[in-house]
Amino acid sequence: MVKLNNLLQYFSLGQSSFQSTMLASNFTAVAIAVHTLPVLPYSYSALEPYISSQVMELHHSKHHQAYVDNLNAALSSYVTALLNNDIPAQIRLQSIIRFNGGGHINHSLFWRNLAPSETPETDPVASAPRLVNEIERTWGGLDEFKETFAQTALGIQGSGWCWLVGKQNGRGGLQLAIVTTKDQDPIVDEGMRPLLGVDMWEHAYYLQYLNGKTKYLENIWNVINWKTAEERFLGASKEEAF
Ligand SMILES: [Fe+2]
Repeated sequence: MVKLNNLLQYFSLGQSSFQSTMLASNFTAVAIAVHTLPVLPYSYSALEPYISSQVMELHHSKHHQAYVDNLNAALSSYVTALLNNDIPAQIRLQSIIRFNGGGHINHSLFWRNLAPSETPETDPVASAPRLVNEIERTWGGLDEFKETFAQTALGIQGSGWCWLVGKQNGRGGLQLAIVTTKDQDPIVDEGMRPLLGVDMWEHAYYLQYLNGKTKYLENIWNVINWKTAEERFLGASKEEAF
């Protein structure tokens, strides 16, 4: 008879990026990806002077890394809770997975919707013609959109994110909207697609802008990667699913 522990050992052999285990009740294999901190497509200093190197390094290597580490630990504990049929632990872990998994998703999206200023990706008209056309149709112009985005972002109480999203309109297209999410809640609603997000946690700006959130929101448009936003808008993004 093959014991469960032996099966666990067998399934863990040679799998560095996955934790595998078995549910004893029905012998369903469960493979859990071990999430890793994504490599930035630019250096920590590349977004200067709009986002400082110090902010970027701490934000990426400390804050995002912590979300990744905590997510992996919580997922591992969740599997143990499933194996033990420990429902209270499963319920307790859900909020931890939501917070840290959301933090991992949000920051991964954020890094990729930033780019060094003066690069082609930061030119909205050249890099995102379809999206800009829809923004102009929705808000009357890019400046009007940015103004509405800033007002919405400044309305966040506590920590959170401000997003440009596309909502499926039922006719095969996307209706644009600006929405906020609290803490690290990600955009996971059915039919809603995040196009670009701005981190409104203090760790994203305070070391450089102190309480100047308005200036942070003005300056960040210099380093927004419109090419990424266009690809997300068109459904052509090759970003990995989380
Ligand atoms: Fe952040």
